[in-house]
Amino acid sequence: MDVWILESAEAVAVKAADICADLIQQKPDARLGLATGTTPQALYAELIRRNQLGHLSFSRIETFNLDEYLGVGPQHPQSFQQAMRNSLFAHVDVDPANTHVPAGDSPDPVAEAASYEALIKARGGIDLQILGIGRNGHIGFNEPGSSLGSRTRVKTLSRATLRDNRLGKPDFEAPIMAITMGIATILDAKALLVLATGEAKAAAVAAALEGPLTASCPASAIQLHPDATVILDPAAAADLRLTDYYELVDQARRRLTSR
Ligand code: F6R
Repeated sequence: MDVWILESAEAVAVKAADICADLIQQKPDARLGLATGTTPQALYAELIRRNQLGHLSFSRIETFNLDEYLGVGPQHPQSFQQAMRNSLFAHVDVDPANTHVPAGDSPDPVAEAASYEALIKARGGIDLQILGIGRNGHIGFNEPGSSLGSRTRVKTLSRATLRDNRLGKPDFEAPIMAITMGIATILDAKALLVLATGEAKAAAVAAALEGPLTASCPASAIQLHPDATVILDPAAAADLRLTDYYELVDQARRRLTSR
């Protein structure tokens, strides 16, 4: 695990955009795994900025989102499909046909989950999966208790997630179920890029990075991944115990690159 503690949420977004840009430069037809929610918004804004300046092209990129609410169609204002259009897809040169989000309004959600999993495999797997972390340690909608071996499937959201999802949207009756990539699906990605900012995430980040590997904290599964980069601001890193070591690694990294 490569842990970066940067000075601000803005710095987190810029570093994350650098990692995405490096991948896209090396592999212009890369497959990106995307997350919705607040955390990656600054990253998406930075990617849009670079795309509009002509520094970065998504024209051959294919994307796979982690999850979608059950019973919510792509045009629903609260759908993750719509959120992705608003925060990224509509503003960059990605081909809409290459952007995949589970069909939350499928008449057969169980079959839809299986075919989403099969699609990811058939396309060759995800090169870089972007992840936020829920305050309860979820990744995707893999709530505490989710099998570490889970695949894309229908999951019931926890009360804590339902509360978090309603924050700032008093009129939104958040669906209580979703189709989500499983933890094993996420771990199949060639690389993980985990982002967390703000003090509300400090406990979940500490449990994920330094707690035991456990289904009670689904984000702890990232400990199993051989190529996971975690980028934090100081507030999200506040409960970590190994900060001194992460700083030492950073110093060593800087020494290496300045040679
Ligand atoms: C979003 C997702 C969730 C969020 C997590 C953090 O597609 O799968 O796991 O990444 O709930 O959400 P924010 O970033 O809003 O705090």
